[in-house]
Amino acid sequence: MVVCVCNAIREKDLKEAVRSGADTPCSAYARLGRRPKCGQCVPFARTLIAAERASA
Ligand code: FES
Repeated sequence: MVVCVCNAIREKDLKEAVRSGADTPCSAYARLGRRPKCGQCVPFARTLIAAERASA
């Protein structure tokens, strides 16, 4: 599933970023060499990050 359309970030990319230490959408995107643009994905990204961290 695509999390961020602007940056073409997939759920698995986001999870990888979380596993390597990212704890916010901004830091996760930065780890992927990207940054939020329109911002629409941020609440969803935040939810996914929280879920991934809870299951780690
Ligand atoms: S969908 Fe992620 S910044 Fe636009």
